[in-house]
Amino acid sequence: MSRSRRLDVFKPAARTRDVGTQGELLIERLADEGQGMAQWRGKRAFVAGALPGERVRVRVDSESRHGLQASLLQQLGSSHADRVEPRCRHYSECGGCQLQHLNYAAQVIHKQQVAQRRLHRQIEPHLWLEPVTLTSWRYRHRTRLQLKAARGGAQLGLLREGSRQLVDIEECVQWAPALEKAVVRLREALQLVSHAQRIEEVQLACGVGDAIAARFTVSRGFGAADLESLQASLADQAWVLEVIEKASGKLVWSNERPALAYPGHSALIFGPGDFTQANPAINAVMVDTIASWVAPGRHERVAEFFAGLGNFSLPLAATGCSVRAYDIGSAMVARANGVSQAMGLQERLTFAHADLFDAGEIESLRSEVAHCDAMLLDPPRAGARLLCREIASWAGAGECAVRRLVYVSCNSLALGADLDLLLAAGFRVEQAQVFDMFPHTSHFETGVLLVRD
Ligand SMILES: C[S@@+](CC[C@H](N)C(=O)[O-])C[C@H]1O[C@@H](n2cnc3c(N)ncnc32)[C@H](O)[C@@H]1O
Repeated sequence: MSRSRRLDVFKPAARTRDVGTQGELLIERLADEGQGMAQWRGKRAFVAGALPGERVRVRVDSESRHGLQASLLQQLGSSHADRVEPRCRHYSECGGCQLQHLNYAAQVIHKQQVAQRRLHRQIEPHLWLEPVTLTSWRYRHRTRLQLKAARGGAQLGLLREGSRQLVDIEECVQWAPALEKAVVRLREALQLVSHAQRIEEVQLACGVGDAIAARFTVSRGFGAADLESLQASLADQAWVLEVIEKASGKLVWSNERPALAYPGHSALIFGPGDFTQANPAINAVMVDTIASWVAPGRHERVAEFFAGLGNFSLPLAATGCSVRAYDIGSAMVARANGVSQAMGLQERLTFAHADLFDAGEIESLRSEVAHCDAMLLDPPRAGARLLCREIASWAGAGECAVRRLVYVSCNSLALGADLDLLLAAGFRVEQAQVFDMFPHTSHFETGVLLVRD
């Protein structure tokens, strides 16, 4: 290729020509992430808040290799039959929800279609069960709030969709009532903290009986006097508190109160900053379903990867099987081993630290998991590519006895790529189901049961 042609290809003006311009669009369909999708001068355009069949006036805000992002300025003509009034007053500016303008039944149909479309090569249509849905409002037991300096103190809220801009959030239709109460209390407390703007983030989670765990992530400048004022501001609350320094990730202070019981779970306990499923009611159904798919016999062995605090492993081990569970979170591993011991399960349920994105560490687990009858994977959004490649290679070489493998995923794109590896190694899909863990957002969990002869 000649030098001049290469320069032509990278001419930036071609990518930014549409930004700032306005026009009318006819929305063709709902994109996977919940925006209305249309064609704009031969390019794909995504319009948050618009629904299929609607004619809208938009302004193009930005362009990326995926297409144009446009703001909805005006709806022209009639609305989609499933359009509803969003309940939340922050909806148009907060990045937390994407689907509140669509009635809930239609949201669930959309998510099921997204899952089936993304996984159509790996999962035949008749293998899908009905999606699991429960109450769609006030379901979250935890939230992560950002702080920014503002006149007279600090502003507390969530980030605007796709940006670092903070939206001051006073109420949220996703928060459980106890969580909402805690946010109100936190706002009051922050008024009394010196240099509150040096707190960058607060993670709040509520347990059984409205108990609260809070993790404050602070910048280096948050000094001893600031810490003292933070402690004093919440001294009247029986919250479990922890302060972490952002740069080092080190624990600065903790009030060392006992861990909290997770709602709707017989054994799970958690502390500030631990991973827990956001929606306890859907989680309870998901845990029962996944346990019935893993279906371990009394003397069978299960290997669980990305096990966290033991959300799945604790109920599984209670049925009589043996479980070896792995996760990268050392504090969670220690906490989960403590629970296993307290329940008298330590002979059959053990948690171990492992980095499951590291090929060497996965390889070192080979002999430990070679004799397991079933496996359970619940990775973060990135998926479990390396681990699935190894499991496929162990199974293909006859070095692993596993017959049932259950995969739980919050990212159906990563799930598809991982299923390709497992299917090529002789696994076949027996069942799949969507769990609507995050109503009014475009996110959901997918469970898949695979078997091997
Ligand atoms: C979606 S959560 C699932 C946790 C648990 N199964 C549950 O239901 O609560 C994903 C888990 O993967 C763990 N994780 C993230 N990166 C990891 C890695 N590189 N190696 C091992 N575990 C990892 C996190 O600590 C987290 O507990």
